[in-house]
Amino acid sequence: MESLPVAGARAVDRHLLVVFGATGDLYRQKLAPALYHLVRQYGLADRFVVLGAARSQLNDAEFRAVTRGAVEIVAKGQAQLADPSADPAQWCDEMVHYQSLGNGGAAAYEALSRRIEQVERARGLSGNRIFYLSLPPAAFAATVRGLGASGLSRGPGWTRLVVEKPFGYDLDSAMALNAVLHESFQERQIYRIDHYLGKATVQNLLVFRFANPLFESVWNRDRIDNVQITVAEEVGIGDRAGYYDRSGALRDMVQNHLTQVLSLVAMEPPVSFDAEAIRDEKVKVLQSIRPLRRDDVVLGQYAPGQSRGVPVGGYLEEPGVAEGTRTETYAALRVFIDSWRWQGVPFYLRTGKRLRTRLTQVAVTFREPPVPLFKSFDRSRHQGNVLYVRLQPHEGFELLFDVQVPSDHPRLATMPLAFEYEQAFGDLPDAYETLLYDVMTGDRTLFVRSDEVEQAWRLYTPILQAGIRPVPYKAGSWGPPEADLLLGPHGEGWTVRVPGG
Ligand code: BG6
Repeated sequence: MESLPVAGARAVDRHLLVVFGATGDLYRQKLAPALYHLVRQYGLADRFVVLGAARSQLNDAEFRAVTRGAVEIVAKGQAQLADPSADPAQWCDEMVHYQSLGNGGAAAYEALSRRIEQVERARGLSGNRIFYLSLPPAAFAATVRGLGASGLSRGPGWTRLVVEKPFGYDLDSAMALNAVLHESFQERQIYRIDHYLGKATVQNLLVFRFANPLFESVWNRDRIDNVQITVAEEVGIGDRAGYYDRSGALRDMVQNHLTQVLSLVAMEPPVSFDAEAIRDEKVKVLQSIRPLRRDDVVLGQYAPGQSRGVPVGGYLEEPGVAEGTRTETYAALRVFIDSWRWQGVPFYLRTGKRLRTRLTQVAVTFREPPVPLFKSFDRSRHQGNVLYVRLQPHEGFELLFDVQVPSDHPRLATMPLAFEYEQAFGDLPDAYETLLYDVMTGDRTLFVRSDEVEQAWRLYTPILQAGIRPVPYKAGSWGPPEADLLLGPHGEGWTVRVPGG
């Protein structure tokens, strides 16, 4: 059985994918469905073998049952199988294995190493390996050291290491973790995940900017008044207090996801569409960001309110949250990029849990005309030129422009030119499918480089250490009113365009 990747796709060398933490939620909810989708849609059934690894004492059959449970949901939602080896039960029986790591000591890594060789022999693999750390961050360093000490970081074929977020909790811890990774792996072997980079709409920011000279020619301080990046979540923290209460919105969302979106919006054109060229330009954006001051930042914490008309409790009432904790569930920031392109243009970033609705959007507001010819017109329905890039949900673009309303008195109205992905192309792939496929094909473009992650922490660590007290905001609102003042006392406020709302 030799199925090949779909026409035009990059080649996937046959390999073993070892997932550490394979009994956890991420494997069940994201990784296993994404892997199976790759098997099914990209014809990769014989390209990789999965070896789950975790502390639990499971056997192959038990782990296959876990995997089958996770992938059958995907299988049901999809069309008939062209390739019978992509049948979920058959794929799990043939291609999925498990190795217990017990207490994770040296002997466990020796046993893992022997098992890897045995599976590779049995499946005819030549020693290409991916090690995926789907683990709590506290376990990253020990696992990487285990791989180094047992010789697994230097396999007979290529070896790649995938590291999940969060990558450190401040600059020092991120540098320390990078140092541990670099003891056993070279930077070109390391794939640091930020799942926002796997979202098709986030990647499309580059295509939008650099394939459309129309926009690129106005993408600068001469034409742009301000840029707002909103990542709003409707949900609260659910059952994640153990992690979230020690993290907060700055670490959980701003340092990684919002900063990645900011870099893609603000970067200069790369010299080529190649991983290092793109990542070089992203790092330069981070290096040009003016150090944040206290008054550039507003932090908030949700208080009781409503979500979709249903009363909900505040953060302090969530199970597992420390009494009186000051963890922020909302952050808004004003950022300036001291570069020729962006000097003087404010970038506003905000994110929060329990906000009005789920919306990830970049709003680029263009400058008003230099001479206001239509001052005497009724401008109550005027918003001016704004480009909304909606990253989720209802992914797409809207470009607002003014028209004259046919009426008996002169009136301007702002209207949209709109494009929606779903209408044009159907469903978008899940971010994890894209990212796993890129690891399998050795494309590092959508992964975060060591200098990039450190530079992001360099930016936010002083703010994390400043002890800024979060102000309360009502659950179901757009966040604390204090955040509006970041946009200036006479500012128009945050601009949101909620699909259908
Ligand atoms: C994760 C954060 O990285 O991203 C979560 O830890 C957050 O707190 C999630 O909910 C948001 O991702 P998405 O893809 O739902 O926007």
